[in-house]
Amino acid sequence: MVIAGNWKMFKGPAETDRFLDELDLPSGVEAVLCPPFPSLATATGRGIPVFAQNVHWAAEGAFTGEVSAGMLLELGVEGALVGHSERRQHFGETDDTVRRRCEHALEAGLRVIACVGETESEREAGETADVLRRQVAAIPRHEALVIAYEPVWAIGTGKTATSEIAQEAHALIKELHDTRVLYGGSVKPENAAELLGQPAVDGALVGGASLDPGSFAAICRAALS
Ligand code: PGA
Repeated sequence: MVIAGNWKMFKGPAETDRFLDELDLPSGVEAVLCPPFPSLATATGRGIPVFAQNVHWAAEGAFTGEVSAGMLLELGVEGALVGHSERRQHFGETDDTVRRRCEHALEAGLRVIACVGETESEREAGETADVLRRQVAAIPRHEALVIAYEPVWAIGTGKTATSEIAQEAHALIKELHDTRVLYGGSVKPENAAELLGQPAVDGALVGGASLDPGSFAAICRAALS
């Protein structure tokens, strides 16, 4: 089981340091933290793998506001999220840029959590399977890559997918791509065991509930039950 905490644009270095001082993780779970860029150097070297929230496809160049895999590796960062729905919705990320970011990160030696998921209107229009097929087709096959299924309507909304919806989407993704699939979207200590108990759910990508060390650890414990 992989339990990854996506902090989004929360926690600078001082708060990151406090979080790590308080964090008490159970053994037997592969926990990962994804802090914002300025907090990465504080988070590495503390006994928990650290991933960035994005990575560029070039090794270096005139790409203001971007960072490369080599820069992350130099900090001790082990991997990166790619294609999170907030990147797709607000920052113009496309299936093509997701593919390029994944390929560069993997070639450079980073691990990748590549994110897919349908919006509410796509689900209502019956397009979920088509959207997932299109998004998954852009994701390279690699042993250091896992996919996170995050239905956009369940992110930060408190609306969790039912375990049946999660299971169905995960099963489809696994037919298309032979990899582990994490579920993301309003995962909390209260619903984690049920979601993580589904046969095709191999872990969780947790946003809001990963910001508190107690609730992040509780989700990690639920993964063991
Ligand atoms: P959430 O976010 O757990 O706050 O819904 C999940 C994510 O965006 O990765």
